[in-house]
Amino acid sequence: MIETESGVFLEKTKKDEILTPETKIDKSVKPVLAMSNEKIVIETKTLDFYYNADAHALKNINIHIPDKKVTAFIGPSGCGKSTLLRCFNRMNDLISDAFHTGEILINGVDIYKEGTRLEDLRKQVGMVFQKSNPFPMSIWENVAFGPKVNGINDKDELNEIVESALKQGDLWREVKDRMQNSALDLSGGQQQRLCIARALANKPEIILMDEPASALDPISTGKIEETIEELKKNYTIVIVTHNMQQAARISDYTAFMMLGELIEVDLTKKIFTNPTQKLTEDYITGRFG
Ligand SMILES: Nc1ncnc2c1ncn2[C@@H]1O[C@H](COP(=O)(O)OP(=O)(O)OP(=O)(O)O)[C@@H](O)[C@H]1O
Ligand SMILES: [Mg+2]
Repeated sequence: MIETESGVFLEKTKKDEILTPETKIDKSVKPVLAMSNEKIVIETKTLDFYYNADAHALKNINIHIPDKKVTAFIGPSGCGKSTLLRCFNRMNDLISDAFHTGEILINGVDIYKEGTRLEDLRKQVGMVFQKSNPFPMSIWENVAFGPKVNGINDKDELNEIVESALKQGDLWREVKDRMQNSALDLSGGQQQRLCIARALANKPEIILMDEPASALDPISTGKIEETIEELKKNYTIVIVTHNMQQAARISDYTAFMMLGELIEVDLTKKIFTNPTQKLTEDYITGRFG
């Protein structure tokens, strides 16, 4: 473990030895890219996040996430990618000592504004996790679960929502004749697409994905990537990935993080061919990671 300037404890690895202290972040380069022609859906302003007073996990994060694009978060293990992703739907609220300073805005509205209903926020900002987590119930029940909780009871309406979500999740063809079978009998890749469909059934605007394909084989991964490609026509997607080829393939923008800081955000093409920061270049060329 090492303690950084601001008191974050991170696992000490070889890469830390390489990067500290020789490689410095060029502070004159602003990490926020003014995506001038893009509608911004998620914005953070001077966001600092602490798991507790001694664990400062995010430092001064200023990021703009554009509408109906895929934005990928990359960076070494422990750099804060999942923490930042979980800030966007207040998932970190579940951790008792955690707190933040700064602002998190969705469509210009502070998600901690008084009167914000968590159920509404989580509907608007859906999430898919690394490990697929279908409920131990039928395929149909899994997808209908959210809409039912949200008060939709009409069977025809639910059927329509389920079918549409499964089609968008690219699973419909494979499961349409066995909707009453247990979701747990699906393959790993199918379970993950079911979880995507379950998130879509709530009609979110934003979908957060934390390494959604890292536990899957290459063919299932390819299917998830195709699904994401299709989904970005209608949704804003933020994806954490360890797989750099995946980030390069599917994302429009890439944000590189290290030690709790946002080092650089830019068009994916630029990040992978001509990054501004030396640290980004070192990371994407595999000098550490
Ligand atoms: N519940 C927690 N309590 C205290 N510290 C935590 C907690 N969860 C994560 N951290 C710490 O916060 C930092 C950021 O963790 P985070 O999980 O966001 O990293 P990550 O970039 O997603 O890593 P990985 O690529 O391994 O998933 C790490 O130092 C981690 O140890
Ligand atoms: Mg993570």
